[in-house]
Amino acid sequence: MIAVFDSGIGGISVLAELRKLLPMEDFCYFADAANAPYGDKDTDEIKQLMRQNMQQFLSLGAKAVVLACNTATSAAAACLREEFKNIPILGIEPALKPALQKTEKKVLVLATALTIREKKLHDLAESLGEQERLIMLPCSGLMEMIEENPFSEEIERYLGCLIKPYENEISAIVLGCTHYSFLKPLLARLFPEAELFDGNEGLARHLQKVLHEKDLLGQGDGKIIWQNSLNDAAVNELYNRHCENIFEEYGKHIC
Ligand code: DGL
Repeated sequence: MIAVFDSGIGGISVLAELRKLLPMEDFCYFADAANAPYGDKDTDEIKQLMRQNMQQFLSLGAKAVVLACNTATSAAAACLREEFKNIPILGIEPALKPALQKTEKKVLVLATALTIREKKLHDLAESLGEQERLIMLPCSGLMEMIEENPFSEEIERYLGCLIKPYENEISAIVLGCTHYSFLKPLLARLFPEAELFDGNEGLARHLQKVLHEKDLLGQGDGKIIWQNSLNDAAVNELYNRHCENIFEEYGKHIC
């Protein structure tokens, strides 16, 4: 079984790609909803939460862990790989490279405050050598709105105010938080000139490669177990059903 982690529903956009490419793998999707949002926390707190989450994945018998969360990857992937050496830990990062390569004008990067602040993103930008073409915008509060309802008018207003000032100078938008992948249809409608990029498909291909190299490819029937950290049993159950529904709906779009 492969553990797929996010602070909430965002990683479901990744899970859908993983399932498409690897239909014979079994997955456990874990949402740390009790501690969300991660994007406004400090780095050490996220490292600590992720250590606890890792113990949970190991106790479930996971053969690999996918951090389907840009924020957790930025804050904790490197230290988790140091501390948990016996299990592959894959992370996700904003898809700057394909966006810069495929488009010519400026590239808008939307992500959580933590992802935008962390060194990992700035190192990546520097390695690509085109920082002056990147406009990075932290989107505080957006994750919470998406958790509530990814199709709300409130989100449309939020994105309009945030992005309009840059509309004429950009040719691409990088969705640097897995929650934002659910906004693709809305962004495509609001900003039809901008090409949209996320790292979900790339992460799925990376996982396939790692499983192949480590001889870990599964022969399962594509089972998905839904888990979260919410304490109240009824609320926990409701959240899992919510996740399942989102997975079904989103899966239809990417097939
Ligand atoms: N989906 C997470 C990410 O990719 C959301 C972060 C949050 O919990 O604020 O960064």
